[in-house]
Amino acid sequence: MTRHFLRDDDLTPAEQKAVLELGLALRADRFARRPLEGPRAVAFITDKPTLRTQVSFAAGIAELGGFPLVVDGTLAQIGVRESIADTTRVLDRQVSAIAWRTYGQERLEEMAAASRVPVVNALTDQFHPCQILADLLTVAQHRGLETLPGTTFAYVGDAANNMGSSYLLGGATAGLHVRVAGPDGYLPDGDVVARAREIAGDTGGSVTVTTSAKEAVADAAVVATDTWVSMGDEAEAAERAEPFRDYQLNAELLAGAAPDALVLHCLPAYRGKEITADVIDGPQSVVWDEAENRLHAQKALLTWLLEQG
Ligand code: NVA
Repeated sequence: MTRHFLRDDDLTPAEQKAVLELGLALRADRFARRPLEGPRAVAFITDKPTLRTQVSFAAGIAELGGFPLVVDGTLAQIGVRESIADTTRVLDRQVSAIAWRTYGQERLEEMAAASRVPVVNALTDQFHPCQILADLLTVAQHRGLETLPGTTFAYVGDAANNMGSSYLLGGATAGLHVRVAGPDGYLPDGDVVARAREIAGDTGGSVTVTTSAKEAVADAAVVATDTWVSMGDEAEAAERAEPFRDYQLNAELLAGAAPDALVLHCLPAYRGKEITADVIDGPQSVVWDEAENRLHAQKALLTWLLEQG
């Protein structure tokens, strides 16, 4: 059966670990696997702005021996010019996998339901699971894969956005103690929290949702943040400044974490807003490794998905 990766919990804990192991192997030997030799094409479609995701998918597909077919979603107008299902029926006869960045998660689900090749979530309004694989790989790179279960991981900022939800699900899958903190009105969806708690019950992790950034960060081994204004939220930029004021990842907040805590940010970063320059450019920041690990994590994921079919 064709496997898809639409949200973080589409991988079981054992499967996630296998993908991360492969990601580490590909970090060490970039051209070790060539599942797309031919070259076979993989489509990367984007309906929203992108830099890291497009580049890491395109470079990754090429490094796997394949041809990266980048499709501008604003031209393709999937679901407007023709239905998502019809589009998918055209694509899956010509490409070996499809990565799609789009708005609603339901659009991605509709594509996956029609697709005979793996469909990968390259970011939706609800989830950003490829980024979480890269983040877990970054912690594994610095601390070892075996250390992930039991690691205390704090995310501070817009806990209702795609990163907040994916940290909950993907972090719980890895057995992390996931703590997310955001202002009232910007806390994660209850169903996502419940699902993360269910997963954590099996992996030995835990889930904490709080409005206290300080509580979330206390003694954490990893501290992450993200923009306060996600793609699609731009009209709310002004009204978001005030509620998020106490959720900035700055030196004072970071001082409450473990002394050697790693700092993550999925980028793009807005210095002086969600994170200060001294923190993102400081010695605890591993954001450039994190950005590089998009490449290795997605290559591992694509390789793994293609092997399942
Ligand atoms: N939450 C951000 C992530 C960007 C990679 C957004 O959706 O814009």
